[in-house]
Amino acid sequence: MSVLGYFDGKFIDVENDKIIGMEDRGHQFGDGIYEATRFYNGKCFQLKRHLDRCMSSLKKVRMTVPYTADDLAKLHEELIEKSGFKNGVVYFQFTRGTAPRDHHFPNVKPHLSMSIRSSEVNEQQQAEGVKCFLTEDIRWHHCDIKSLNLLGNVLAKQAADDAGCYEAVLYRPDTKEVTECGSSNFFMIKDGVLWSHPTNNLILKGITLSVLLEDIAPAIGVKVMEKEFTPEFALTADEAFITSTSLEVTPCIELGGKVIGNGKIGEITLKLQKAYKEAVKKECF
Ligand code: PDD
Repeated sequence: MSVLGYFDGKFIDVENDKIIGMEDRGHQFGDGIYEATRFYNGKCFQLKRHLDRCMSSLKKVRMTVPYTADDLAKLHEELIEKSGFKNGVVYFQFTRGTAPRDHHFPNVKPHLSMSIRSSEVNEQQQAEGVKCFLTEDIRWHHCDIKSLNLLGNVLAKQAADDAGCYEAVLYRPDTKEVTECGSSNFFMIKDGVLWSHPTNNLILKGITLSVLLEDIAPAIGVKVMEKEFTPEFALTADEAFITSTSLEVTPCIELGGKVIGNGKIGEITLKLQKAYKEAVKKECF
């Protein structure tokens, strides 16, 4: 099956058009940044927040690109229209371009590549929840940048999979703080309070997290504590869940082999999950 994509000004077939050079900086150094956006009913959800984060990642890695946020929004619209998909995910990334291998910034144009895939939200997983593995966060200290360097995340997620778990919940071994997950954010609820790691350099400020903490929690009266907490404290959670653009709000029903709550979706998690779906409906339908 062909996959619709875009590369530096042209719409392409991702699987058959071989366009990335051997000396692409993303390929050789992981020198680039990315985003993954979700669309529902043919319309992107929270695109502005995604594009703002993209521009912020670019700035932090000192990359200048010949695209504005408006250009990227238009490309999203075009891809969705050309694909004819109703629901799915757009992946896009910038790399620092193609040049003979040398660590210093080359004097070449960055590459933009995009791809679009059709996919539905996993409602069963959101109803039943997932098991999470608990493991050390071995990543660098700039996790706020949505960098292409995902080796620490890849190793953690594979370790989780090896242990029969869906996701890896990470903690810093030096400071004993739970940060986030391999490819999602982590939240716990204790005595009615929603705990989340502060949005500093140690986690990616998820768009789903932003929607929950900035828009939904205040609107439905859920008390939020953005403060570091230990893995031991996480194991005492009444409820826990993970979030991402593709997972929305997915309950975590087991952590490090310990059942959380009664092993089913918690009451506050369910409220937040429903409110998130309402926000999607309001924006995209
Ligand atoms: N992952 N933390 C990490 C490390 C992530 O990779 C992601 C997203 C998130 C959640 O961010 P958001 O709510 O903006 O999707 C948190 C994407 C989907 C991925 O790598 O595929």
